[in-house]
Amino acid sequence: MDLMEVGSGLRLDVDGRISLLTVNRPEKLNALNGRTVDGLSQFFRDAATDDDIGAVIVTGAGDRSFVAGADIEEITGFSALEGRDWGRRGQEMLATIESFPKPVIAAINGYALGGGLELAMACHLRVASSSALLGQPEVKLGIVPGFGGTQRLPRIVGKGRALEMLLTGEPVGATRALAMGLVNAVVKPDELIGEAMGLAQRILRNGPVAVALILQSVNRGLEMPLAEALEWEVAQYALSCSTEDVREGTRAFLERRKPDFRGR
Ligand code: COA
Repeated sequence: MDLMEVGSGLRLDVDGRISLLTVNRPEKLNALNGRTVDGLSQFFRDAATDDDIGAVIVTGAGDRSFVAGADIEEITGFSALEGRDWGRRGQEMLATIESFPKPVIAAINGYALGGGLELAMACHLRVASSSALLGQPEVKLGIVPGFGGTQRLPRIVGKGRALEMLLTGEPVGATRALAMGLVNAVVKPDELIGEAMGLAQRILRNGPVAVALILQSVNRGLEMPLAEALEWEVAQYALSCSTEDVREGTRAFLERRKPDFRGR
C-alpha cells in the first residue's frame, strides 16, 4: 500500500484499484473540521475521473471512532449565516460522494455521530464493526443536523425510525443498525477493512459502465416520481446496451469464461 497525504486530516492508502481514505484526526475522534471537509471534496472530485481508482473505502483512524461529527470547537458560536455556509459546504462534499461514479463504501469502525453518520449515509454501502455506534446527537446540542441527516436518514431507515434517532439523539448499536437497514453488514472489528475490501472487489469484477449507470439510476431515480424514474432507468439500460462491456459480458457468459471488462 502506498501512503499519500491528500489534505489536512486525511490519509490515503492505495491497494490496486481500491483507495482507502482515512479521516485521520484521532485526537478529536476524527471530527470533521473545514479543511477535512474540503479535503474530502477535493479527493472525490479528482478521483471521479481517475481511471486507476475503481472504488473508495472511507474509514476513521484508530479503533474508537469513524467520525464523531463536525468539530464542535469550530462550529460553536456560529451566526445563522455562518451556519448556512457550513451546512452548504458539508452538503456539497456529501453530494460529491453520493454522485461519485464508482462505489464508495463506509467502513464504520466506531462512533459515526452527527456529520460522521451523515458522511456514512452519503456513501453507497456501509459495513460496520460490531463496536460501532451510529447516531444524530445534534439535538442534544440544540441544533439541527445540517449535512443531510434529516433527509438521508428517513430515506434509508424510514420516517419513524429516523425521527426516533433524530429526536432522542440516542445512537444505535451495530446490530440494530443492521436490522433497520442502516448498514449492510456487521463484522468483528479486526475484519472490518477486509470485509469492505472484499465487497469492493466483488463489485470491481462487474462491468464498470453498468456499475456507474446503476449508481446514477438509483440516486437520480429516488428523487423522481416512479413513472419518470422508470423512464430514467430505461435510458440507463439503453445506454448500457451500447457498450463494449455488454458485448464482452454476454460473450463471456456464453463461452463459459470470466469477462474481461474494459469499462467502455
Ligand atoms: N468535535 C470536537 N472534538 C471532539 C468531538 C467533536 N465532535 N468528539 C470528540 N471530540 C474530542 C473530545 O473533545 C476529546 O478531546 P480532549 O481529549 O482534547 O478533551 C476527544 O475527542 C475524546 O473525546 P471524549 O469525549 O473525551 O471521549 P469519550 O469516550 O468520553 O466520548 C463521544 C466519546 C463520541 C461519546 C463524545 O466525544 C461525544 O459525544 N462527542 C460529540 C459527538 C457529537 O455531538 N457529534 C455531533 C457534533 S454536531
